[in-house]
Amino acid sequence: LADARLTEAEILADPVAKIAAVGGARHPSIPLPIDLFAPGHRNSTGIDLSDIATLDATAKAVALPAVTPVAETADVTALVARAHAAFPAWNATPLDTRASVLEKLADLLEQDRERLMAILVQEAFKTIPDAIGEVREAADFCRYYAQQARMRLGSVELPGPTGERNTLHLEGRGVWATVAPWNFPLAIFLGQTVAALVTGNTVVAKPAPQTPAIAQAAVELAYRAGVPRDALLLAVGGPAVGQALTEDHRIAGVAFTGSTATAKRIARTLVADDDRPIVPLIAETGGINAMIVDSTALPEQVVADVITSSFRSAGQRCSALRLLLVQADVADNVIAMLKGAMDTLVLGPTGNPATDVGPVIDQAAYDKLMAYRASMVARTVETLDAPAEGLFVPPTLIRLDRVEDLTQEWFGPILHVATWDAGTLSETIAKVNAKGYGLTMGLHSRIARAGEVAESEAAVGNLYINRSMIGAVVGSQPFGGEGLSGTGPKAGGPHYLYRFCAERAVSVDT
Ligand code: NAD
Ligand code: ALA
Repeated sequence: LADARLTEAEILADPVAKIAAVGGARHPSIPLPIDLFAPGHRNSTGIDLSDIATLDATAKAVALPAVTPVAETADVTALVARAHAAFPAWNATPLDTRASVLEKLADLLEQDRERLMAILVQEAFKTIPDAIGEVREAADFCRYYAQQARMRLGSVELPGPTGERNTLHLEGRGVWATVAPWNFPLAIFLGQTVAALVTGNTVVAKPAPQTPAIAQAAVELAYRAGVPRDALLLAVGGPAVGQALTEDHRIAGVAFTGSTATAKRIARTLVADDDRPIVPLIAETGGINAMIVDSTALPEQVVADVITSSFRSAGQRCSALRLLLVQADVADNVIAMLKGAMDTLVLGPTGNPATDVGPVIDQAAYDKLMAYRASMVARTVETLDAPAEGLFVPPTLIRLDRVEDLTQEWFGPILHVATWDAGTLSETIAKVNAKGYGLTMGLHSRIARAGEVAESEAAVGNLYINRSMIGAVVGSQPFGGEGLSGTGPKAGGPHYLYRFCAERAVSVDT
């Protein structure tokens, strides 16, 4: 593990070295079982991956594309200047053309899915099911935003008295900075970028420093789909590059997904200079997500949904379940069943289709999670053995006395459990709300009234009742939180594109 202590510069210079150092993601060639791609595995827009018979991740992606980082603030300034110069022409490009480019990009993502999945497996340590889901979600964002743009953007005539014509124009604002996290390095990176593009903006896109190769692959496909080279520019780098980008006064909006601390930092940057225009910030951040289980819930379903919500993607989803709250009278039974289910989880290299839980993203995340886990050993009620090599954080269940005892997001496969007393559903929801986050919440209950209470009292962007809490589907489950979890716009929802638009009303006395 000592060998895995790479600096950001080293990671950027050679992503393959990072993979080698982490160990867990290098694996023998493993053919996939055909049933992973059965025709039933369709997404909301009908993408069908059933014709992929094998994915040999190692063979196809061993040479991750070389990525050139942006080294200097001056480089960022130059990228913004190019995007700024390209804005008028792209904004004047017919809406239908811009939407068609997104549809073409969706086609290219689907055609190139094996290579993209292989990069995701190698660079971001995605399991095969997660890599499939991510390529699908990226293509879904492109198709959905193309459809929504055609339906909602452009110009609309508004009512007025005789002799007056009123028109509302929706158009691009200028250059957007899109700043992405490593945990959805294709879907979120591309989703926020194509939303900005289809509305007429040009974009400087900054991926997370851990995942530059998949970002570069996505941008190359966008160029092939017809995005002009100066309308979309890739700024590969870490926080310093993001900081330089958001400090540039020509940036007309920022779409950010990542931690709450970084969102606040960006918000401060955007208002720091008095002479800077006031620009919008779309921030989608983390959460302390809870699931409340009452005594009427079906324990088998609860346990299956808890396992998926907490441990899929090694818990590295913003939507993931962090705090399970079980009604006291059934807690012992649910916890016993949960421990049994945890014991069946398979930890291993992410290219192996049998793997449930892969390594976490990097050494810093590993160290932080393992230190926390060690500090909570006296409260740990279940944990697993991890492979000897690689950044594997064992799925862990920690028992807390009170809802209030969990005070921060632990971004990994660590679940906390506490109990609540019958008759205190509203109080329990209020305690979760009081944490100030508002991303996802779950409820398992067969009492209809409990669902109504949660629906009216849970202060979250996404409430899931009697199901898992992850895997929001584009167009069906618009995703995004409130409070410390974000500014509220819902990715994959019908109102998202409006947030990227300038609205101009024109009134003419005819
Ligand atoms: P992070 O905040 O550390 O980094 C996110 C991005 O911001 C990276 O590209 C990073 O380089 C950049 N950045 C860092 N400092 C910056 C600065 N000063 N100015 C501009 N950019 C800067 O987050 P992360 O560790 O990459 O991602 C994990 C976090 O993201 C978790 O908290 C998770 O909950 C959250 N997340 C939220 C959503 C959502 O939709 N709500 C989705 C995925 C992840
Ligand atoms: N949109 C992702 C999910 O719902 C974060 O899991």
